Amino acid sequence: MISSWVARFATALPAGPVLDVACGSGRHLRHFRALGHPVVGVDRDLGRVADLAGADGVELVPADLEGGAPWPLGDRRFAGVVVTNYLWRPLFPALVAAVGAGGWLLYQTFAQGQERLGRPRNPDHLLAPGELLGVVQDQLTVVAYEHGRVETPAPAVIQRIAAVRESGTNMPVMFVL
Ligand SMILES: C[S@@+](CC[C@H](N)C(=O)[O-])C[C@H]1O[C@@H](n2cnc3c(N)ncnc32)[C@H](O)[C@@H]1O
Repeated sequence: MISSWVARFATALPAGPVLDVACGSGRHLRHFRALGHPVVGVDRDLGRVADLAGADGVELVPADLEGGAPWPLGDRRFAGVVVTNYLWRPLFPALVAAVGAGGWLLYQTFAQGQERLGRPRNPDHLLAPGELLGVVQDQLTVVAYEHGRVETPAPAVIQRIAAVRESGTNMPVMFVL
């Protein structure tokens, strides 16, 4: 099942490639592919997307994103950059830079308060209140932001943001119901 946050904004993305960072099973990558986007998945373990290797419009990039190697996508820009249930703060500048003109950053992961409910409990893996707002500040336009407890699919404290790089020529869809 895909994140309801990703589902909410998925159809607002312009045409073009979508990057799923730390894609895991590729649940979001598969969703955007079904919507007609070329997709790029990055993960240190691509085993759970092995069925997509060589498929039309799918690029799988094996990379350890935390090992200090250069950002594996270089200066490529995307219609969407999606990150869910993954946090490695040194990537923040590269993630924002990878959002192309008119493109979106959709980010959702665990946040402070989660440690009282279950894993992850390590503060390195929990966003501070407002942290994602700071990440996009002065670079992307925030369309939606939340930090709080959700009950489904399991009780958790999460933070999530949907932010767009305004292109100057096209007014992005700013409200998605
Ligand atoms: C909790 S899973 C989330 C997967 C996917 N984003 C989702 O929400 O379904 C975290 C993912 O991060 C990947 N990951 C963890 N450390 C990584 C690293 N150093 N470099 C690249 N990927 C990493 C794992 O392989 C795993 O697929």
